[in-house]
Amino acid sequence: MRIPYGRQEVTPDDINAVVEVLSSDFLTQGPKIEEFEAGFSAYIGVKHAVAVSNGTAALHLSAMALKVSENSRVITTPITFSATANCVRYQGGHVQFCDIDKDNYCLDMNRLEHLLKSSKKGTYCGIIPVDFAGYPVNTQGVRRLAQQYDLWIIEDACHAPGGYFLDDQQKLQMSGNGMYTDLAIFSFHPVKHIAAGEGGMITTNDTKLYNRLLSLRSHGIVKSDERAKKEGWHYELRELGYNYRLTDIQAALGISQLKRAKLNLTKRHSIADKYDAAFQTLPIQLPARDPSHFHALHLYVILTTKRKELYDYLRQHNIFTQVHYIPLHYMPYYQAFGFKEGDFPVAEHYYERCLSLPMYPSMSNNEIDYVIKKVTDFFQQI
Ligand SMILES: Cc1ncc(COP(=O)(O)O)c(C=O)c1O
Repeated sequence: MRIPYGRQEVTPDDINAVVEVLSSDFLTQGPKIEEFEAGFSAYIGVKHAVAVSNGTAALHLSAMALKVSENSRVITTPITFSATANCVRYQGGHVQFCDIDKDNYCLDMNRLEHLLKSSKKGTYCGIIPVDFAGYPVNTQGVRRLAQQYDLWIIEDACHAPGGYFLDDQQKLQMSGNGMYTDLAIFSFHPVKHIAAGEGGMITTNDTKLYNRLLSLRSHGIVKSDERAKKEGWHYELRELGYNYRLTDIQAALGISQLKRAKLNLTKRHSIADKYDAAFQTLPIQLPARDPSHFHALHLYVILTTKRKELYDYLRQHNIFTQVHYIPLHYMPYYQAFGFKEGDFPVAEHYYERCLSLPMYPSMSNNEIDYVIKKVTDFFQQI
C-alpha cells in the first residue's frame, strides 16, 4: 500500500471520452471546449467561462485583462502556489504579500484592511485572494474593501470548485461565481478536483472581460463577422496575446470528470468527517469547517508542532504527506524584492506546523483507516 496526499481518478468513461476525440476532426480547440466551458459555468453558477491551457495561464491572462503593468501593486497571500503571485510579475507589476488568518489560512481580512488603510490611496490596484485548500473566501467582504479602495479582485479558486460561502443575505455563493469578483481562475492539474492532465478556466460575469480573454488566449486575434462575410479568411491581430488554448482532448477528459465533481466532493467530505472524528483528541489543529463555509477540501491540512517527525514516520509507513506551501516570501525570487523571514508571522507559524494528509475521492476505507491508525499511533508513542 502506497498512499499519496492526492491522486487523480481516471475511469473507463474518462478514457472513452478521450479516445472519441482522438478520432474526431478536432484535436486542439474545437467543440469540446465550448461544451466544457458551458458545463463548468453551469456547475459554478457564473455567466462566462474561458478554458485555457493551465491555471497559471488563467492567472496570467487575468492579470493582462485587468491591465496589470509596471505601475501596478497587487496584494496576495504568501501561503499559495507561486503562480498566484507570479502572474503579477509576468506583467512587470509589484507583489505585496499580506498575512493569513490563523484559522482558515486565507488572507486575513483585518490585516488586509489595515494594509489598505495605512497606505496612500491608489497604492494598490488589485487583490488576489486564494480559497486556500478549498476554504471559500468570503468575497463579499473582500469586495466591500475593494470598493472603498477602487481595487479589482481575481479569486484564485484553484482549490475550491464546488465550495461556497453564505453571504450576508444568507445566499449561497459558489467559489468563482463572479458575484463579488471581477475574475476567478481554476486549475485542472491532476491532483485538483477535476483532472484534465493540464488545464485551466477563467470565470466571470463581465462580458467585456470575457470577450477580451477569448482573444488573448489565442494570440490577441479577433475575427470580425462583418468582414468575414466578404472575405472568409479574414482575421485581425488587435493586441499581443498568447497561445494558451486548451485541447479538445483535455476538454473531453474535463467534461467527463465534471460529471463526478459533486459526488467526489461528497466523498472528500466523508473522508474529512472520519479524520475529524478520529483526530478530535489529538494535539493537532484540524481544518476550519463550518456550515457558513462549505469547504471544497482539495487538501486536508493539519497543524502539529511535531510536523517533521510525523512526516518522516508516515513516510516510513508508506503514507506520503506533503507541505502546502513554503511561504512565498521565503523564496529567493521574492526575497530579492525585499521580503524576508519575520515579515508575516502567522504564515510562518502555519508553515512550521502544516501537513497535508491524504485526501482524494478514490481513497478506499482501508486506506482511510490505515492513515487514521498511523497518525493516531504516532501521537500515542511520543
Ligand atoms: C492556488 C493555485 N494557484 C495556481 C495554480 C496553478 O495552476 P496550474 O498548475 O494549472 O498552472 C495552482 C496549481 O498548482 C494552485 O494550487
